[in-house]
Amino acid sequence: MSVDVNNKPLTEPSSDNTDGGWVRKAWGVVDDRMGISALAYPVPEHANRFAWSLGGITAVSFVVLIATGIILAQFYAPSPELANSSIRSIETTVWAGSFIRGIHFWAAQAMYVAALLHLIRVFLTGSYKKPREGNWLVGVAMFGLLTFAIFTGTVLKWDQEGFEALGHNIEIGALLGGVGFWFSPTFSGQLPILLRLYSAHVVIIPGIILVLVLLHFLLIKRHHMSPHPSLPVGKLTEQAAALEPTKPFTEHIRRLVTFGIALVGILGILAVLLPATIGSSPVAGIEITRPPWLFWWPFTLENWFGLPAIVWGEVAFFLILAALPFVDRNPKRWWRKRPVAMTLALLLLLTLIALSIIMILTPAKNHLGM
Ligand code: HEM
Repeated sequence: MSVDVNNKPLTEPSSDNTDGGWVRKAWGVVDDRMGISALAYPVPEHANRFAWSLGGITAVSFVVLIATGIILAQFYAPSPELANSSIRSIETTVWAGSFIRGIHFWAAQAMYVAALLHLIRVFLTGSYKKPREGNWLVGVAMFGLLTFAIFTGTVLKWDQEGFEALGHNIEIGALLGGVGFWFSPTFSGQLPILLRLYSAHVVIIPGIILVLVLLHFLLIKRHHMSPHPSLPVGKLTEQAAALEPTKPFTEHIRRLVTFGIALVGILGILAVLLPATIGSSPVAGIEITRPPWLFWWPFTLENWFGLPAIVWGEVAFFLILAALPFVDRNPKRWWRKRPVAMTLALLLLLTLIALSIIMILTPAKNHLGM
């Protein structure tokens, strides 16, 4: 065996590479520089359950939206004259255009549903309680931005549905007085409002969500995943949490990748079986369409009380969410032990579902310009 200048034996390079030596070496080189193995820190075992992976699934949907959105942005023309026809040409002339558009549409629905279910999980396990109130507020802000992203996406189609959504948006902006200045078509004389909503949809909203997601993740790392709600409350929680079995975080990432692949498969099937729709160019002065399903409940309020009710309904909904950790001072986290919070939340949920069902049963009415 050869030796080096210090008389230490030199390792012979592996000639057949059967021990995976070069793979390990390459991994070591990358890991030394990127710190990937530092991700193998311990997290409680319960974090690997599906209910505790819903935040990660929301993040995966967001990644799919960004990837497909970048492709669509190469072909979409954000001007009132061309918007509708450019989407039609994505459907008919761009290779796999209809499929990519379908995935983008369904990923938006998936992200909204996953975020909603994640919010419900955080509520049921009392994970918004001290010290996670700040992270709950970050989540509420992201949920609001996600709602706005779906709204602006609907307008971009520039068909009857999008045009009526924009009409509501402009009137709501006017109702808000000075606060609603950005939604006024005259705010920027040079640019059509469609172009400004497009910049919000592709840059401003996803950019802010991205920053908030990073803050969300940093806070989860800082406070750790909340302990299982069945553990004792108060000072004993930390001690009991320390005894919980753990798994490396990399295993959680591996599970999320698996969920992500399954999600993309499901989105692909939906994109083929139920492609995203597009109506013909809009006609001003009529109201004949229904909004996307997440806006059904405020639109029933609009049918009953007029356009301002959409604003008051949405503001009330987000204020209830934001106030929750500060109003609910019960330290218990297990849902079975919080009958008041559970009853009120169930009432809120049933009200939203009932208002949505009423919206389906009611024919579209005229509200704009009234
Ligand atoms: C919209 C994008 C969102 C993303 C990408 C996201 C992502 C995540 C992830 C990955 C976790 C780790 C635990 C889990 O997956 O269940 C988490 C925890 C958490 N999220 Fe979100 N979330 C989002 C929205 C929300 C919303 C809407 C809320 C509530 C209003 C919220 C509140 C929280 C809280 C309080 C925690 C800590 C919970 C714990 O430690 O058990 N998040 N989030």
